[in-house]
Amino acid sequence: MRVPTGIPGFDELIEGGFIEDDVILIIGGPGAGKSTFGVQYLYEGITRYNDTGVYVTFDESPARIMRNMWRHNWDLERLIKENKLRIVRIDPLKYSRYIKRSMTYEKIDTEEMTLESVLNQIYHNVQQIGAKRLFIDSITTLKMSHDPVNIRFILLEFIKNIENMCCTTLISSENKYVQDTFNVEEYLAEGVISLNTSRIGNEKFRLIEVLKMRGVKHDESIHRYRITDAGLVVDPHGSLLCEKADIFCNTPSKKGEYQ
Ligand SMILES: Nc1ncnc2c1ncn2[C@@H]1O[C@H](COP(=O)(O)OP(=O)(O)OP(=O)(O)O)[C@@H](O)[C@H]1O
Ligand SMILES: [Mg+2]
Repeated sequence: MRVPTGIPGFDELIEGGFIEDDVILIIGGPGAGKSTFGVQYLYEGITRYNDTGVYVTFDESPARIMRNMWRHNWDLERLIKENKLRIVRIDPLKYSRYIKRSMTYEKIDTEEMTLESVLNQIYHNVQQIGAKRLFIDSITTLKMSHDPVNIRFILLEFIKNIENMCCTTLISSENKYVQDTFNVEEYLAEGVISLNTSRIGNEKFRLIEVLKMRGVKHDESIHRYRITDAGLVVDPHGSLLCEKADIFCNTPSKKGEYQ
């Protein structure tokens, strides 16, 4: 069973859609369009494919997400009222929050965020609306440890438990390339989609690449995409990339550096 993203031009890169119940990673720098991609995936799922969806946000507040997505005419509030969408805020700062008194800030009582509490919150919401699509934005918060072994263990535990929720899941991650290595989660996920930008002179190019998609004969080229009033639009042919191959093939995911 395939789960189409509904993003124009993208599904044909992956034989029509994600494999059902897979966990797919979307990586990219700030403003690359990770959140837009994820919301579009949920929005299209609800409005075109009758799949309910859950959006888990670690970074942005639901109010801001709803406001920003209005830019693409996506009325998330209506979908929430219709019980087709849930936006779940998991606030990592909940356990170190301050309130403003007259002249000072004062720390208030808070609860501890554990992997268990995070998974429980997600699962609770998925079950309540019978979600088929899940978007987790982003995984970076779960990597707040100095110990790489600990990070790998946390991410492995997280991803394996998410896989059991019977949702086709998209997880966003910031691409940080330290010492030319990949993010641990790129190995753990079933698929990885990379969003990059490049410049030639004053012109900015947005570039999308399917780095891996286990079990799928996916397209192996780099394609241009745009963020428009209607959301992301991918050019599945993108001949320009061949002309400028030297520039465009030099992506962070391959060379370990930003353009
Ligand atoms: N209608 C539009 N036309 C063109 N670009 C737009 C439009 N609406 C939003 N954008 C651009 O899309 C980008 C927002 O993308 P998004 O928030 O999805 O990125 P992100 O990868 O999630 O970023 P971050 O890592 O900061 O969360 C912004 O740079 C914004 O300028
Ligand atoms: Mg974002």
